[in-house]
Amino acid sequence: MYDFAPAADADKSTLYADLLSAADALTAGEPDPVANMANLSALLWQFLPDLNWAGFYRMVEGELVLGPFQGKPACIRIPVGRGVCGAAAATGETQLVADVHAFPGHIACDAASASEIVVPVKLGERLIGVLDLDSPRPARFDRQDADGLERLVALVAARIG
Ligand code: SME
Repeated sequence: MYDFAPAADADKSTLYADLLSAADALTAGEPDPVANMANLSALLWQFLPDLNWAGFYRMVEGELVLGPFQGKPACIRIPVGRGVCGAAAATGETQLVADVHAFPGHIACDAASASEIVVPVKLGERLIGVLDLDSPRPARFDRQDADGLERLVALVAARIG
């Protein structure tokens, strides 16, 4: 077992710097995308407080299909354009949702979710999936989380595609 851990009382920029270096160390040299997505989900779950779901959906034959994650069992297939994940896939833009109940078409996989962030994962111009994090706390995610997670997916895209 690997023993990466967030520093106690780290501010958000330190937390993301540590998360990125742990993610790099954990996935470098490993070519298997499932192994890497599984370990990244576990790492996000361990590093980021107040999450009830963290994981990946992969683009498979034109729709999003559930990948490795932490949290409760979730919807398996999401059409592009549906829900928060589908919006991220359709637009190619990070979706930062302070109140999931106010998001048109939000798909409630876990009734505990109050806020959500979904970051598209691209390999060059090709969308290969999305990274989805849910929180039971309203407005849990901010622009700093979006920046940190966008840097994370850019770092690991070639290792999970
Ligand atoms: N809430 C997401 C569905 C995925 S689950 O949160 C894991 C959505 O609206 O796309």
